[in-house]
Amino acid sequence: MIIAIDGPAASGKGTIARRLAAHFGLPHLDTGLLYRATARVLLDQGSKLDDIENAVSAARGLALLDFEEDRLRGREMGEAASVVAAIPQVRAALIDMQRAFAARPQGAVLDGRDIGTVIAPDANIKIFVTASPEIRAQRRSLELRGRGEKVDYPAILEDIRKRDRRDSERADAPLMPADDATILDTTDLNVEGAFAAALDIVGRAQREAL
Ligand code: CDP
Repeated sequence: MIIAIDGPAASGKGTIARRLAAHFGLPHLDTGLLYRATARVLLDQGSKLDDIENAVSAARGLALLDFEEDRLRGREMGEAASVVAAIPQVRAALIDMQRAFAARPQGAVLDGRDIGTVIAPDANIKIFVTASPEIRAQRRSLELRGRGEKVDYPAILEDIRKRDRRDSERADAPLMPADDATILDTTDLNVEGAFAAALDIVGRAQREAL
């Protein structure tokens, strides 16, 4: 079983993906980390984020050490990731790794922006998780505060809107639901409610496949 979870920043897709993976005993890949790690390598090198040649070699050369989580999850890296993610050659450099993960014999859960559309178009289950920008900014503020970052809600809301625009308007693999995805709006749902709704979607898809 391949479960593809897509959606905009701070929609709750990562939490849902993690919970589904634990529930079904499947491996989980947060594909945003690949773009965040690529951006981090570039920033560490002092390279510009839109330097295509450097960005491609950073993506190709990603190593385990680049995935040390603390710095990757910060606000700066999310923004930087969406800049490198708009470079088609960077996306191309990261496709095989993601497809290989999706093709594991036992199945997999992947979350990102283009899982249902590009990485795993044949996934058995596709969920597009969304929520209002205001609620997403609230969730991101809580998350960042929990990590000890200073939080400025209006700036975070602006980040979210800017990232939505950049991710949706890029030419290559823009953020959009696959035609056969089920939309899950988590604006009025807490974590448990969102997970229950996602389980329901998976259950329905499994029954339909019988
Ligand atoms: O949780 P949040 O959405 O803020 O972060 P993320 O999922 O780690 O994604 C960071 C950035 O990476 C996004 O804004 C996208 O531009 C990019 N991304 C992408 O283009 N394709 C993916 N499959 C995953 C992330």
